[in-house]
Amino acid sequence: MKIQIYDNYEHMSLAAAKLLEAQIRLKPNAVLGLATGSTPIGLYQELGRLYREENLDFSELTTINLDEYVGLGPDHPGSYRYFMDQQLFSQVNIDYDSTYVPNGLADDPEEEMADYEALCDYLPRDLQVLGIGHDGHIAFCEPDDSFATYCHVAELLDSTIAANKRFFRSKEEVPARALSMGIKQILNAKKILMLVNGEAKTAALKAMVTGPVTPKVPASILQLHPDVLVLCDEAAAKEL
Ligand code: PGA
Repeated sequence: MKIQIYDNYEHMSLAAAKLLEAQIRLKPNAVLGLATGSTPIGLYQELGRLYREENLDFSELTTINLDEYVGLGPDHPGSYRYFMDQQLFSQVNIDYDSTYVPNGLADDPEEEMADYEALCDYLPRDLQVLGIGHDGHIAFCEPDDSFATYCHVAELLDSTIAANKRFFRSKEEVPARALSMGIKQILNAKKILMLVNGEAKTAALKAMVTGPVTPKVPASILQLHPDVLVLCDEAAAKEL
């Protein structure tokens, strides 16, 4: 695991965008794993600028997102499909049919995730962007007694619901279940780019990097992946 520390969120985001830009220019038909949440917003804004001002071409890319809320469709402002459409897909020339996000409105969520597992096998990712939760989760793989190996339907912890309520009008509106990629598919990506910013993530970052590999801190499993780059800001890194 390599770690690079930047003085602030903006510089971390620009560095992340440079890496994605290099990936896309070197391999225009790359498969990228993408994440939602506050963390990658600066990265996506810079990718939009690179498209508009520096001819970065997204037309041959394929993207696969990590997760989605059960019960929310593309028109719901809290859904991750809506987030991706707003933050990135509508800002660049990507082929919408080559962007995959689990379907939160699937009649059978379990079947949806079995299909998503097969999709991930079929489209191995060149690079996976990740964020980390305060409790060390990645995607919606929550702290537990064992790792959530496969794509699955996750019951969200109260702490995750509380952390994500800022994207909704109230805590009650946050769905209690989500569709999530599992640890196996996350580790299947050739390269992993983890972004961590802010003081609220200090403990999670420290546990991921220096703690034991344990399902109580799902991100700690990344210590076993051969090519993980962590970009963080000074606030998050202050206990490393
Ligand atoms: P955040 O979420 O970027 O909104 O902090 C990260 C996560 O929960 O994985």
